[in-house]
Amino acid sequence: MAIQRVGVVGCGLMGSGIAQVCSQAGFATVVREVSSEVVEKGLKSIEKNLSRLVEKGTLTEAAKGEIRGRLKGTTSLQDLKDCDVIVEAIIEQLPVKRELFSALDALCPAHTIFASNTSSLTITEIAAATKRPQRFVGLHFFNPVPVMKLVEVVRTIATDPAVYEEMVAFGAKLGKTTVRANDSGGFIVNRLLVPYLLDAIRALEEGVGSVADIDASMKLGCGYPMGPFTLLDFVGLDTTYYISQIMFDEFKEKRFAAPPLLKRMVLAGWHGRKTGRGFYDYADPNNPKALEL
Ligand code: 3HC
Repeated sequence: MAIQRVGVVGCGLMGSGIAQVCSQAGFATVVREVSSEVVEKGLKSIEKNLSRLVEKGTLTEAAKGEIRGRLKGTTSLQDLKDCDVIVEAIIEQLPVKRELFSALDALCPAHTIFASNTSSLTITEIAAATKRPQRFVGLHFFNPVPVMKLVEVVRTIATDPAVYEEMVAFGAKLGKTTVRANDSGGFIVNRLLVPYLLDAIRALEEGVGSVADIDASMKLGCGYPMGPFTLLDFVGLDTTYYISQIMFDEFKEKRFAAPPLLKRMVLAGWHGRKTGRGFYDYADPNNPKALEL
């Protein structure tokens, strides 16, 4: 099957990035959100990213026009009915994802392949809401999607091997390096990343070092682009907390358990950059101030 038309459900941070890379790769792309305000916000961020590429000289104005021309925003699920592949990037709540895919299953032709960008939910359980679990994979992208070079392609025990290979090839067409992962909680990256981020919080709780010093240690001592607290604020403390709960539920291992400090920060509404406060205070975005305990 030649993939020509791609649907993306969700036009937030991840969904808009996924829609951008699909359109940049030459696919007719339709991205759906529940409200036109969110669609507009997502399309604006894509516009900004593309303009930056034009300013840098890596994209011509004409190529930008073509990319924008291939991309359509909508609030109607019906507009996804002719898609060959649909990538879902909506809220990380199993019942909401299952409801969406059940509706898409009724709407789309039999050949359409479904993919979820979930970071921690079980692909098998989402796919079970459809009558096509053999045409269902995980496609896990990383934030910021246009920049991060990886996509994890996740297969379940029910995924048809030919469909899986097609989606590995699709990931490569999007310009990403693909890795193959089985449907185990957190796949490859979050299986390793989440305990690391939670351990950084535990080290802070135990007084091993300050937020700024732990960040500087991992950034300068290990060459990571961001220290763990900067990354936690970037990913979102609420998201990390949620992922850790799902992974703890799956493995019942302490390394996936959320430290009390993380829980309290989430309860206090300190969700990181998006709320202006997390392990850093972003009142002055050019000079974030580290939390002092
Ligand atoms: N959208 C598009 N492009 C962006 C961007 C965004 N949101 N943010 C930065 N960029 C581009 C910039 O334009 C710049 O492009 P250029 O090199 O061509 O000029 C390039 O990225 C580098 O940006 P900056 O110079 O502004 O800043 P940095 O060098 O610090 O890079 C970063 C920013 C790419 C975010 C880097 O700090 C990084 O790699 N951080 C780690 C990110 C990470 O680990 N992501 C994964 C999170 S885990 C996840 O997503 C999984 C989930 O399940 C939790």
